[in-house]
Amino acid sequence: MPPRRPTTSAWRVAAVVATAALLALAIAGLASGRFPWSGGGGGSGGGDDDHWKKPGFCGRMDCPRYSTRQKHYDYQLREYEEAYWVATNISATKYELAVKMATLYLMEYFWGANNQSLRMKETVPLSVHYRTDGDPHTGTQHNYTVALFIPYEYQEEPPQPNNTSVWLYRNPKATLAVRMFQHRAREGRAIEEMRALLDALFHAGHDNIETGAMMVASYDHPLKHHPHHRRYHHSEVWVRGDFKLSPRRASGTNLPSASNNQLRIA
Ligand SMILES: *[C@@H]1O[C@H](CO)[C@@H](O)[C@H](O)[C@H]1NC(C)=O
Ligand SMILES: *[C@@H]1O[C@H](CO)[C@@H](O)[C@H](O)[C@H]1NC(C)=O
Ligand SMILES: *[C@@H]1O[C@H](CO)[C@@H](O)[C@H](O)[C@H]1NC(C)=O
Ligand SMILES: *[C@@H]1O[C@H](CO)[C@@H](O)[C@H](O)[C@H]1NC(C)=O
Ligand SMILES: *[C@@H]1O[C@H](CO)[C@@H](O)[C@H](O)[C@H]1NC(C)=O
Repeated sequence: MPPRRPTTSAWRVAAVVATAALLALAIAGLASGRFPWSGGGGGSGGGDDDHWKKPGFCGRMDCPRYSTRQKHYDYQLREYEEAYWVATNISATKYELAVKMATLYLMEYFWGANNQSLRMKETVPLSVHYRTDGDPHTGTQHNYTVALFIPYEYQEEPPQPNNTSVWLYRNPKATLAVRMFQHRAREGRAIEEMRALLDALFHAGHDNIETGAMMVASYDHPLKHHPHHRRYHHSEVWVRGDFKLSPRRASGTNLPSASNNQLRIA
């Protein structure tokens, strides 16, 4: 009668080998980020570029891609990629009124007033641009350009707006100076933040910047009471310019002061 022992130990060896193989697979899986819990892959709306991590302040909404070129205590320099936006112009005496009206027409585009009757999910930011160096006789009347970022899914070929006063444009790759603030993008607050941004830029030695315009970006969902509307706020003011990556340090007191004469707002 042959003893049963060798068979039992053969099973043991097989079990150990199988366990080791499973462990090795698990480790390889974790290392390569293949498992859902390891956080790989962009999920919905994250884009397909692994090098770009959508900032938290965009929430679950699509927002334009950029790379941060410089980080300072009170501002950052961001290089934005070329992208499609949809915009409309509203001429009004009140910023808040212009934004409200523009949001309505832009939302209509997102909700199906386009040549393919596409319903697109909302995006951030809502950007508002207007000139502050215009004719002083126009008083508080401004031409506000209000724009929303086109969702990633339709960036290749966005549908045409039905309303001829709403148009698509391709924003070129550009470097912007950005100052963030955790408040609603109301005009008074935005003007204060813009002054602080211009001051910081001048003191850092950036003198080739566009000072005659206001650019405000709101990351709050354009509609209150929407499920994506968050309880905290994120807004930014933006300045275009020819930014040198290592600006000379500010020296002496003969730098232009942004708060005195650069930003004229009626
Ligand atoms: C909207 O306003 C911007 C800035 O003032 C201007 O460049 C653009 O031509 C205007 N577009 C239309 C369609 O009026
Ligand atoms: C927009 O235009 C398209 C095509 O011209 C049309 O089919 C659609 O009904 C229009 N949508 C709205 C909301 O006007
Ligand atoms: C706004 O645009 C209109 C026509 O496009 C122009 O006549 C007007 O002067 C502009 N207003 C301001 C304040 O720039
Ligand atoms: C809608 O407009 C886009 C972009 O201009 C165009 O490529 C597409 O063919 C149009 N689609 C329809 C259904 O008209
Ligand atoms: C188109 O949008 C403009 C705002 O830019 C608005 O004044 C106009 O009433 C809109 N037209 C229609 C048909 O909704």
